[in-house]
Amino acid sequence: MADRILGIETSCDETAAAVVDRATHVRSSVVASQIDQHARYGGVVPEIASRAHVEMLTPVLAQALVEAGTADDEIDAVAATVGPGLVGSLLVGVSAAKALALVWEVPFVAVNHLEGHLYAAFLEQPDLELPLVVLLVSGGHTMLVHMQDHGHYRLLGSTIDDAAGEAFDKVARFLGLGYPGGPVIDKLAATGDPGAIAFPRGMLDRTGDDRHAFSFSGLKTAVVNHVRKHPDVSAEDVAASFQDAVVDVLVTKARRAAREVGATGLCLGGGVAANSALRERFVQACDEDGIRAFVPSRAMCTDNAAMIAAAGWWRLRADGPSPLDTGATPGLRLVGAGDQSN
Ligand code: KG4
Ligand code: ZN
Repeated sequence: MADRILGIETSCDETAAAVVDRATHVRSSVVASQIDQHARYGGVVPEIASRAHVEMLTPVLAQALVEAGTADDEIDAVAATVGPGLVGSLLVGVSAAKALALVWEVPFVAVNHLEGHLYAAFLEQPDLELPLVVLLVSGGHTMLVHMQDHGHYRLLGSTIDDAAGEAFDKVARFLGLGYPGGPVIDKLAATGDPGAIAFPRGMLDRTGDDRHAFSFSGLKTAVVNHVRKHPDVSAEDVAASFQDAVVDVLVTKARRAAREVGATGLCLGGGVAANSALRERFVQACDEDGIRAFVPSRAMCTDNAAMIAAAGWWRLRADGPSPLDTGATPGLRLVGAGDQSN
């Protein structure tokens, strides 16, 4: 049984490698961020990202292996993110993982990045029990997932336009706060008044088939219109009121979904799960509803390779090794089209 997994993550702007035992014990987790190289452009530039991954992956891998205190021949399998993400970036990690698996004569495991985010919480809370509802909020995705069993997911709803992280990034860019926007708005909001401006809560009152869906593009437009109309408004109040609207929608919909499916726990994942207000309100809501809250540490919420190694361990148990002709799939989904579980 393969127990020690080397995980590799290069789907976007973080080059990461990690060594994890049995999907629970993180021996090392190294993340090299490229944010400085993209910040001046206000977002991730795919060509720059691929080149930076090529440059950084070897030193990051070496550091992960050294920090793990493990020899090459003690690695039982190599897992890498195959999608969703930027194709040029994904290919760097996938190629390296397949080469290592071939040379070390161990299995290669193809991992869905979103499944990685789902497993981040398990790394730190091995007692976590399924079924659960997971609120997955990142720069590219916003979804509510009913995690029925390992590898068995039902997508309850997702965003019909912008992802929550994308809304944070776009609003921050409009306010001239730089990239990525989430952490800056989080910090600025700490000294603002969340009740100062009543921004819209998109799709909050839906009761039909789209009741678990999200929409953040109207909120972004409302922020832009408000600031244009009131140029002297305090940036802290705008940040706090915008964040309050996002958090309100996310937490309200997550607890409704948990209630509807009868889940005994709610789990948070993805980069936006690093947000202070969201973490606080999420735990408070679970307390009020008498269900368990699983909130990974901030480092496990944003992109990392430990979560890829953990998801890889479960995938390998369920499906065995992935073929070495597996490529990168930029538009990979968590749940197949028309199919509610995989
Ligand atoms: O999961 P992630 O690291 O990468 C993707 O897979 O997209 O998420 C990145 C997103 C960015 O949009 C970033 O602005 C947001 O997570 N983010 C935050 C915070 N930290 C990162 N959003 C709100 N508050 C934060 N503290
Ligand atoms: Zn991510």
